[in-house]
Amino acid sequence: MTAVNAVNRRMALRRYPDGMPRPEDFEVLEGSIPDIADGQVLGRAIYLTVDPYIRVHISPSMSVGYAPTTPIGAPIPGEAVLQVVRSRHPDFAEGDFVAGFGGWQDYCSLPGDSLRRLDRSLAPLSAHLGSLGMPGLTAYAGMTKLAEARAGDTVFVSAALGGVGAVAGQLARLQGCRVVGVSSSPEKCVWAVSELGYDACLDRTAPDFAAQVAAACPDGIDVDFENAGGEVFWAAFNSMKAYGRLIVCGLISGYNLDAPPPGPDMTPHLLRYVAMKRLVMKGLMVADYWDLRPRFLEEVGGMIRDGRFRSKEYVVEGLENAGQALIDMMHGRNFGKTVVRIADDPGSSPP
Ligand SMILES: NC(=O)c1ccc[n+]([C@@H]2O[C@H](COP(=O)([O-])OP(=O)(O)OC[C@H]3O[C@@H](n4cnc5c(N)ncnc54)[C@H](OP(=O)(O)O)[C@@H]3O)[C@@H](O)[C@H]2O)c1
Repeated sequence: MTAVNAVNRRMALRRYPDGMPRPEDFEVLEGSIPDIADGQVLGRAIYLTVDPYIRVHISPSMSVGYAPTTPIGAPIPGEAVLQVVRSRHPDFAEGDFVAGFGGWQDYCSLPGDSLRRLDRSLAPLSAHLGSLGMPGLTAYAGMTKLAEARAGDTVFVSAALGGVGAVAGQLARLQGCRVVGVSSSPEKCVWAVSELGYDACLDRTAPDFAAQVAAACPDGIDVDFENAGGEVFWAAFNSMKAYGRLIVCGLISGYNLDAPPPGPDMTPHLLRYVAMKRLVMKGLMVADYWDLRPRFLEEVGGMIRDGRFRSKEYVVEGLENAGQALIDMMHGRNFGKTVVRIADDPGSSPP
């Protein structure tokens, strides 16, 4: 029997963040190891995800209509890569590797039916929270079901190196598109071009960013895979081609704002150009596409295993650093999809 620690550590909220979260908003608390009922497993977390949606869960004002607000003192919610240490579910045995919504804590009890089994031959375990996890599936759904991208189209991807963006950008490239990414430093942009195959990547912190977008997309943008909102969105919007598609995936620039930023009402500008250019805006919610997962894993997982597709995780060490990892991700200080490692990773298995 696998040994189980005496104490279960969790990263919890000390108070709700006001605007951008601060390290003092989080604290590590200790509790007992959860019991498991019939049909459940006890999992020990190896990797925790650090996703933008977590910011929404930890805000009473933003979570309205989206998700339950995380109670103070409860583990921060989110998916985790787990190893099963006890099982009362017929399909899972001790030692199995799974992903489940266990939150930021060492141990969690979850219904076996809510877990997905991980294929360690496809990619390292950490990738199953990024390129092969929910973010990658989001990109796959957006690019294969909504974008209607054709070879030769210009596809614009914000947060280009992240869990969603890196997969969206690489899929667009494989479809024969010209792919223009956005990131927040020259180093990240160089990597996006050399490793992910973007045709160009623009630094959103540059003072002339909007002009750079226009110059990098001289014939206009056919597909905007929108992950950012704010100034990045407007720069893309103003370069949209007639009949272009705006895939609204996320708006991370607004997740730390309790109210819209002050400024003029841009609705007339937006709607005028939507009409004049016959643009199509499509909202993307990954929850509509769980059924795509087997095909997605076969296609994208197969390409990652064969080395034709890159997956990059930004691994932060230690549960105590998870809050700071969320803050850093919100500032764009991550280099790839952020995960937190809180236990030993046994590595991949041979194909
Ligand atoms: N609709 C859905 O079902 C769904 C599912 C998953 C994710 N999402 C959304 O997809 C987007 C990307 O998520 P992810 O998990 O892949 O995150 P991520 O890209 O791994 O990390 C977030 C990235 O956003 C960028 N960013 C931060 N602040 C920004 C700002 N003010 N303006 C522009 N960019 C900013 C940073 O990238 P750079 O520093 O490189 O610019 C940062 O690394 C988020 O908006 C998320 O909410 C939607």
